[in-house]
Amino acid sequence: MEQEALTGVIEPKTVAVIGASATPGKIGYSVVQNLVNDGFKGTIYPINPGVDEILGLKAYPSIADVPTNVDAAIITIPAKAVLSVIDDCGKKGVKGIIVITSGFSETGNRELEQELVSKAHANGIRVLGPNIIGVLSNSASFNGSFAPFLPYSGKGALISQSGALLIALDAATYTRRVGFEKLISIGNMADIDFADLIEWLDKDPNTSCISLYIEGFKNGRSFMEVAQKTSKPIVALKAGVSEHGAAAAASHTGSLAGAAKVYGAAFQQSGVIQASDLNNLFDRTLALSLQPPLKGDNLLIITNGGGVGVLATDAAEKYGIPLKFAPKDVQAELKKHMPEFGSAKNPVDLTGQAGYDWYYESLRYAIGHEWVDGVVVLYCETAVTNPLEIAQGLKKAIDEAGAKDKPVTVSFVGGEKSDEGIRWLVENGIPAYTAPDLAVNAMAALREYARSRELISSAPDAEFEVDEKLAREIIKNAREDGRDSLTEIEAKEVFRAYGLPTTTTKLARTADEAVELAKKIGFPVVMKIVSPDILHKSDAGGVKVNIKDEQAAREAYQTILDNAKAYKADANIHGVAVQEMAPWGTEVILGSVNDPTFGPTMMFGLGGIFVEVLKDVTFRVAPVSQNQAKNMLGEIRGAPILRGVRGEAPRDQKALAETISRYSKMILDLRDEISESDANPVLVYEEGKGIKVVDARIILKKK
Ligand code: COA
Repeated sequence: MEQEALTGVIEPKTVAVIGASATPGKIGYSVVQNLVNDGFKGTIYPINPGVDEILGLKAYPSIADVPTNVDAAIITIPAKAVLSVIDDCGKKGVKGIIVITSGFSETGNRELEQELVSKAHANGIRVLGPNIIGVLSNSASFNGSFAPFLPYSGKGALISQSGALLIALDAATYTRRVGFEKLISIGNMADIDFADLIEWLDKDPNTSCISLYIEGFKNGRSFMEVAQKTSKPIVALKAGVSEHGAAAAASHTGSLAGAAKVYGAAFQQSGVIQASDLNNLFDRTLALSLQPPLKGDNLLIITNGGGVGVLATDAAEKYGIPLKFAPKDVQAELKKHMPEFGSAKNPVDLTGQAGYDWYYESLRYAIGHEWVDGVVVLYCETAVTNPLEIAQGLKKAIDEAGAKDKPVTVSFVGGEKSDEGIRWLVENGIPAYTAPDLAVNAMAALREYARSRELISSAPDAEFEVDEKLAREIIKNAREDGRDSLTEIEAKEVFRAYGLPTTTTKLARTADEAVELAKKIGFPVVMKIVSPDILHKSDAGGVKVNIKDEQAAREAYQTILDNAKAYKADANIHGVAVQEMAPWGTEVILGSVNDPTFGPTMMFGLGGIFVEVLKDVTFRVAPVSQNQAKNMLGEIRGAPILRGVRGEAPRDQKALAETISRYSKMILDLRDEISESDANPVLVYEEGKGIKVVDARIILKKK
């Protein structure tokens, strides 16, 4: 049903333009003109109460007057009039309305937008927009927009939250020779959103790659769910990377989580490839729409120039596919297609003498060899070669090798003749670029796609045993106490209920109790103030470490209380926590925020100076599998510290990954209660020796 409703909007057979105009220059005129000029094969009904004919088509005063049912209505009347035409659309069986009109939520008119959606839904109608330029579909010859022409034809589909940008990119598809089957303007997303369109495009036989220009989602999780299930590559450019929400954060993690990082994490987890800018969005779309994924890391570079070879080698490392030398048999065979002074290592340098034959022979052999997963071909224009001929040789080699599951990307550096070669390659299904870095970046997109799919399809973790009931009990007690944050002791109890190893921590209300607890736990101990009014305990002089005997414990108890009272005279003091002094290990920080778009989100980073100064942290939307958690450990700049540097033993990354995964389950299960949290520091010991949460903070949602 959903699919059919969207088909009505994206590939309608009958279209009414409500607000069609006979006056050139008006949007209602452009839309009718575009439908006609771009050869729409279905029926067009211009709707206008004051005109009989528009561009040779009979016009009707109202959609209620048209003689047949209608699939889609394109709306180009002012905002205040839009609601008045919806019931008539319903009577004509309209499946979806394409609301070009502006003046809804983007200008603060939220109520009008809500009413529009409610009324449309009551009539069984889906809403695209409002505030959009429309929909363009090449295969349906449907230009239901005020963009002047259908895009350069190809297999991409671009959904854009910016209408103006989409018009500009429509024109750029021709100059860039990046082909699109569909361009869809999504505007305010009052009803139809990215997830709906991606689901539809996944089943569209004419689309092989889905490209997105995103300003912000309304519901990040539904996007992630759909993206994960999609069988086609999705490439996204996210605009707006300001640190929204960070200023008001109460926890460490809250102040580090910015929109860009959380979106980046969500993309990674749902198999969405990111683009760094508009050019990169097109470059990556070209590769992902034309080539299969790069399934392994054995990338071969074939070149006629050492310079571009080195640039490509640098790019390969930069984009995460470091080059390896090809096996001996591959090298021996390739040696046959180059002069004595060529190189068969990787990059394979055919030298400046290389013409059609050497390119053709070496690519045909390489792409057919089992060791090779993919090939980047580089060419520098020379006086003795013809770029178009080289391009044709490459295509012939690929076709004859029959290795359809291995990607090839190409870079031609040169002038007009090289551009001609590039155009020919793209028209023949081979992504070709003007610089080696671009060809390698495109290959990296194909590798990223393969990798993210491997991770998504890897077996899910076994369920952890946790005690959610106990965790909720502790939170309930704190709420009954009128608090919206947990004490360290309570936070650690919640962590323990989810199987996170924490230091033993007990509450002492008198100096005698403190001494007794310290004896039970075993000296040396750490003592800390427990007060819901003092979140930054060290600042208040509320922490004493390395307390070695009874006398010191007694004194520490008193000093901590005195300091706390001096810091905040009216603080509600629960007592002093006596805590096991864990042996020192590598300090890391774990934490969570409740992101406005994606909900519970995990953070991991190295602690101490790494988090304070370098902000060397990484994020994932909860839940985080242990495999994903392992990837997080490798992502931060300080990753080598966990792997063991300068003769130090590697840290217990397995225990750390499990802890991250358990933590993520905790924040997901308790998302109605927990707003932000930190485990900081967490000490990580040598491999096999586990981890320990030393300090914990949980801030509850305000209720
Ligand atoms: N049914 C049918 N036609 C109607 C109508 C109705 N209920 N109400 C008005 N019309 C007709 C008008 O008579 C007019 O036709 P005319 O040219 O023959 O007089 C036509 O619809 C358009 O209405 P008009 O009042 O002239 O509006 P407009 O053309 O100046 O502006 C919009 C209408 C929708 C273009 C304008 O409100 C708007 O939203 N512009 C921004 C659109 C945009 O940029 N969107 C993308 C953002 S990325």
